Amino acid sequence: MSLVSEIDYGTPASKAETDVTLTIDGFAVTVPEGTSIMRAAMEIGIKVPKLCAYDMVDAFGSCRLCLVEIEGRAGTPASCTTPVAQGMVVHTQNARIAKLRRNVMELYISDHPLDCLTCPANGNCELQDMAGAVGLREVRYGYDGENHLKSEKDASNPYFTFDPSKCIVCSRCVRACEEVQGTFALTIDGRGFASHVAAGMDEDFFDSECVSCGACVQACPTATLMEKSVVEVGQPEHSVVTTCAYCGVGCSFKAEMRGDQLVRMVPSKDGKANHGHSCVKGRFAWGYANHQDRILKPMIREKITDPWREVSWDEAIGRAASEFRRIQATYGRTAIGGITSSRCTDEETFLVQKLIRVVFGNNNTDTCARVCHSPTGYGLSKTFGTSAGTQDFDSVDEADVVIVIGANPTDAHPVFASRMKKRLREGAKLIVVDPRRTDLVRSAHVEATYHLALRPGTNVAVMNALAHVIVTEGLVNEGFVRDRCDAEAFADWAAFIIRPENSPEAVAAFTGVPAETIRGAARLYATGGNAAIYYGLGVTEHSQGTTAVMAMANLAMATGNIGRRGVGVNPLRGQNNVQGACDMGSFPHELPGYRHISDGATRALFEKDWGVTLDPEPGLRIPNMLDAACDGSFKGIYIQGEDILQSDPDTHHVSAGLAAMECVVVQDLFLNETARYAHIFLPGSTFLEKDGTFINAERRIGRVRKVMQPRAGLADWEITLALAKAMGVEMPYSHPSEIMDEIARLTPTFAGVSYAKLEQAGSVQWPCNDKAPNGTPIMHIGSFVRGKGNFLVTEYVATDEKTGPRFPLLLTTGRILSQYNVGAQTRRTDNVVWHEEDRLEIHPHDAEQRGIRDGDWVRLASRAGETSLRARITDRVAPGVVYTTFHHPDTQANVITTDFSDWATNCPEYKVTAVQVSHSNGPSEWQVRYRELSEQTRHIEAAE
Ligand code: SF4
Ligand code: SF4
Ligand code: SF4
Ligand code: FES
Repeated sequence: MSLVSEIDYGTPASKAETDVTLTIDGFAVTVPEGTSIMRAAMEIGIKVPKLCAYDMVDAFGSCRLCLVEIEGRAGTPASCTTPVAQGMVVHTQNARIAKLRRNVMELYISDHPLDCLTCPANGNCELQDMAGAVGLREVRYGYDGENHLKSEKDASNPYFTFDPSKCIVCSRCVRACEEVQGTFALTIDGRGFASHVAAGMDEDFFDSECVSCGACVQACPTATLMEKSVVEVGQPEHSVVTTCAYCGVGCSFKAEMRGDQLVRMVPSKDGKANHGHSCVKGRFAWGYANHQDRILKPMIREKITDPWREVSWDEAIGRAASEFRRIQATYGRTAIGGITSSRCTDEETFLVQKLIRVVFGNNNTDTCARVCHSPTGYGLSKTFGTSAGTQDFDSVDEADVVIVIGANPTDAHPVFASRMKKRLREGAKLIVVDPRRTDLVRSAHVEATYHLALRPGTNVAVMNALAHVIVTEGLVNEGFVRDRCDAEAFADWAAFIIRPENSPEAVAAFTGVPAETIRGAARLYATGGNAAIYYGLGVTEHSQGTTAVMAMANLAMATGNIGRRGVGVNPLRGQNNVQGACDMGSFPHELPGYRHISDGATRALFEKDWGVTLDPEPGLRIPNMLDAACDGSFKGIYIQGEDILQSDPDTHHVSAGLAAMECVVVQDLFLNETARYAHIFLPGSTFLEKDGTFINAERRIGRVRKVMQPRAGLADWEITLALAKAMGVEMPYSHPSEIMDEIARLTPTFAGVSYAKLEQAGSVQWPCNDKAPNGTPIMHIGSFVRGKGNFLVTEYVATDEKTGPRFPLLLTTGRILSQYNVGAQTRRTDNVVWHEEDRLEIHPHDAEQRGIRDGDWVRLASRAGETSLRARITDRVAPGVVYTTFHHPDTQANVITTDFSDWATNCPEYKVTAVQVSHSNGPSEWQVRYRELSEQTRHIEAAE
């Protein structure tokens, strides 16, 4: 294995469609118009020396190292800023140029510490390389003049250092922060000799607006910006390309190793979802893999109040198998079930649902998509015919109008947000529909044209009002509707949508959005060119989540914004592999590929391959499993990589359900909250410890590659195999690629997928089959998957969760950048410095009425329960609305949330809870008890 090194072409690729041919050092080269001479040279392997150029950012032309001669032109232009021209003849090397370059290098080196041997960048430093490339042999100016060698190091960021003494002021970092990340945290301050890189208002990186994406560190050609892990461990010597295991963007990374130690994660420029960029989580927050809390031995106990006892894999798996068989013998075949993980690979998820259907003999399988994007699957399949987003991420480059509804991409999908912000800086218009003023609404060089700050729970009313304007003002794309959509369905929908109760004026009062704002946004969406919808859990996690998804699909069809680049309806999926978990048949009613279990032909296909008879009846969803457990008919569960106690609604009900079971098997990295109710704990493996695939929000199937051996001995898929075997069923796979072969064999949309294909293509987007051998970046081109687009009537029905005198405020929940979901991983990294606790955001007006000051402990109570946390006073939330994150278990925001759920899919209504906020003296009694119990149920017996 070697270090995968990617070519740096010096400047970004030109998108021009016309080619020009020129000659460089006697070789002809043909490149797109607008390409720099530097890049054209690199295309034919001629490396022009460079320092300030880097192909992730536009050329700047400051270092003067890349100068060349062009026949017929005076002087020595910089090859990074000079575009090619037809017939141009370029010389990159001669005695004159060499001398000029040496002079430039001499100046740089005279103000640079000569500590190469002890520098952490030694061996991987462009300054060092360039000194060699230009043949620098002496520095005539000496090192005694004025210099920057004593400048102080800034180590305030937990993950990287900034050592100005090594800075050559090339501004690559500044441009990376602006162009790639879009945060604008860095500037070159001062002039001439005094010019230097400044973070924020010339403050520490930690105190500045920096979001720790690391783009500047990656761009820096010297050791000025350097990962602390490289300083500690040394330069990596081999690498493996894999996929991030945090969010649904699915960034591709090179895991760079030294021996079996991970040194750093470097986003891959070949990654089609991220093109060389990342966020703080994927790049830096991988320390959880080695955290002391990781459980590395299987454990069992009789009762949940007993201490855990470490046992062998055989004993733990044997106990799980015998318990499950005992329960089935006593209470019936359907008394057990399982939960697949959206954090695990496709192959692992496929195996768990197969285990349940084949070995357990029922369909009691579900996944966390139940609590996030199940309405997406249902809503999009009913309207378009496919349960997934319609575009690739690159499509946003061609959007003229972007609507972001109920999503906070700068925090939850940061790499896509950077991409979107770039397009917005280029001039695309933005509409944000969100109760909260998210960063997208106004940030550096980005401002939404409209912010529809609606009251939580009124999405459908607002979307219907947008559609009302489009239909009543004659903005429907009639040609598209006539050619592509079901005429009768459109007529029914149009008749419904023009009703007066759907007008902006009728909904303004209860949605809180002025009618004129809705009208303006509707006109912009319908007439502003290519218009794309991106949405998140702020749409789906409602009692009308599915209706809202359908309403967005209606909007896209009515305006013809579907079926080409720059448009579409796109869920920003939360977990890394939630798309894959759904695709792999995790749901109780669907086999892989979204085929209903009651469909005889599909069942026959699987029955033939698996050699069993499948139950044609859908099994239990997670909430039904818990209800059945409380009723005494459901007694055992296998939970792979999910923490339902923390992530599912109505914590008290979840804990009651788990406590009522006789055998709870949890397979995870840590003793998570759910494991407090477990009898058997099977230590899971991180994404670094296994092979497989993840599927991101663009339907992109990306490889996960084993970087190190599973620390507990088995990868997650091997544990499931062992459990199946112990229960009497051999599943003979020796590698996850064989599981993918089975998925491809049984699932038409995956028919063309294999590890060989992924090796060759890097990644592919499903459907990938004979019709689309290279995958499908954009769906519904020419016709919808279901044939004609299906408009559906989307009546607004207010949630039953109502505010009133006792609970006058509405709570909505979300994520922040540094933490991830229930925080099990990110809380075990240095990311905690940014978010030590969940806080309650409350508007100054509501705070004042209650005498609450910033930082005060407050009691947050709903009809379901109460908790205490500290307040943050901010006008990001509107009066009447409060907001919190759910990353910390001892806050337990889900104690507050109710058990209302989406009518079609049971997706919980996390985003709307009527609450009251009042003063408190600190953690509630419940939280104190929780902490005590938490200690007790996690006790591990000392090994003898
Ligand atoms: S880490 Fe990212 S946000 Fe911070 S300064 Fe560097 S590029 Fe900008
Ligand atoms: S910190 Fe690095 S990238 Fe930024 S100006 Fe200095 S040397 Fe260049
Ligand atoms: S954007 Fe998502 S996938 Fe990409 S690095 Fe961040 S967490 Fe990982
Ligand atoms: S690399 Fe062209 S001027 Fe610096």
